[in-house]
Amino acid sequence: MSIQWFPGHMAKARRQIQEKLKLVDVVIELLDARLPMSSRNPVIDEVVQDKPRVIVLNKSDLADPGITRAWVDRFQSEDRQAVPVDALNGKGISQLARLTQEAVQDKMDRRKKKGIAGRAVRTMILGIPNVGKSSLINRMAGRKVARTGDRPAVTRHQQWVKIGKQLELLDTPGILWPKFEDKMVGLRLAASGAIKDEIIDLEEVALYLAAYLKFHYADAVKQRFKIDEIPDSPVELLELIGTKRGCLRSGGVIDYEKTAEILLREFRSGKIGAISLERPDDPFHYEDFAPETPEPPR
Ligand code: G4P
Repeated sequence: MSIQWFPGHMAKARRQIQEKLKLVDVVIELLDARLPMSSRNPVIDEVVQDKPRVIVLNKSDLADPGITRAWVDRFQSEDRQAVPVDALNGKGISQLARLTQEAVQDKMDRRKKKGIAGRAVRTMILGIPNVGKSSLINRMAGRKVARTGDRPAVTRHQQWVKIGKQLELLDTPGILWPKFEDKMVGLRLAASGAIKDEIIDLEEVALYLAAYLKFHYADAVKQRFKIDEIPDSPVELLELIGTKRGCLRSGGVIDYEKTAEILLREFRSGKIGAISLERPDDPFHYEDFAPETPEPPR
């Protein structure tokens, strides 16, 4: 469930996170592997400041593996540790636990030298709605301790969950707001399912997705929708998909809304393939396609 964020919500979320941050040694920043930049909250650096951080590229089962590797390398080149994770199936969880501990090993060693009794490393998960925070907490804990779905206003007693002997995880995540100001960021978030479908223009998002898929994943689209040749414009591609799937209204007119729903649903569930919506140094520029794109007839 996505939340409508207003300035008051943002300020409150920020305050709550700052309180929690005082309790932890290291932060796990959760991003969507398919769109690591767009699923990143713009003020996270300000909020977390210089607290050690490990980046998780979650939903890596849905992302293009080669592109995910490129993102991990990109983060590493910036001296940041990132690990691909599939929170549903538990892939990458042990590597995440190891990296999280390593991120504060020096600090823990120094404490030990000073004679301060050793204790487990404490961590918390931070991320925008729907990125998989609760799923990851439950998966790391090995049982259901966090509720899926976000309700930032609900406060309840938070607890530490033991992850092995060396790590403790806060059972309530820090929820950050997504950034919508940039149109492309909004389109990618909407395509990924991070924004409620009721508040987005499904057809606009589907047109963006059609253009992107044609550019980077033409073969996967041809195979999925049994298409021989991908047409030039995103509208024509959407029409072809609609025709193939029998999305026709009376008089043989394409039902654009239904077609958009199908394309988005099949993308989000990974049926078209393992697809990333963002890649480092992407040659795809939607502006090259969008200006000529006429409004679909209604
Ligand atoms: P949140 O706490 O950050 O809001 O996210 P949550 O764990 O509730 O997960 C949001 C949706 O993403 C859930 O789908 C969840 O199953 C799915 N999800 C989480 N991690 C992964 C992953 O690694 N891979 C895949 N494929 N899916 C993942 P849902 O319950 O079906 O919700 P929705 O799709 O109806 O929004």
